[in-house]
Amino acid sequence: MKVAIYPGSFDPITNGHLDILKRAARIFDKIIVLVAINPGKQSRFSTKDRVEMIKEATQDMPNIEVDSFDGLTVQYAKQKGATHLIRGLRAVSDFEYEFRLASANEFANASIDMVFFMARGDKTFISSSAIIELHKSGVDISPLVPESVIKRL
Ligand code: COA
Repeated sequence: MKVAIYPGSFDPITNGHLDILKRAARIFDKIIVLVAINPGKQSRFSTKDRVEMIKEATQDMPNIEVDSFDGLTVQYAKQKGATHLIRGLRAVSDFEYEFRLASANEFANASIDMVFFMARGDKTFISSSAIIELHKSGVDISPLVPESVIKRL
């Protein structure tokens, strides 16, 4: 069984993340969406809320599980027998960050490889912080996030 981990802060999950997840789910038998800790960020939603929002948004997807972990993503992947980590790329500016992340992951465990999906054209501008900012200014963000996020904003 081919298992992959899709790690991220998911603070909150967006339709951009869900698009990457749906496309990756066609390749792997099981994907675990992992709410992980990015030490460079202050969280907006609690880990529990982020996990709940993802669970609700993926309840119709049979090969998706959701979990959280506060250690290294590659250590979690090894525990779960996963062979790949999934990430999305929205723009060239994402590349440098992802390249460094991939290199650090490779240093920690070279047997776990990363797979990157290009964000689709209409989703390249979406980010969790942009969603919060637009929402705070009264813009309808319902086309950009799942219902589970709208409920909690
Ligand atoms: N659609 C929409 N938004 C996207 C996106 C997509 N396809 N891809 C990325 N983003 C946005 C997110 O909304 C988020 O926006 P924000 O900065 O405005 O909040 C940003 O891009 C990146 O967030 P995300 O992909 O959710 O997570 P991250 O880059 O913060 O995640 C971890 C990094 C958690 C995966 C990484 O820090 C990690 O693995 N941590 C665990 C410890 C570890 O193993 N570290 C690595 C070795 S040092």
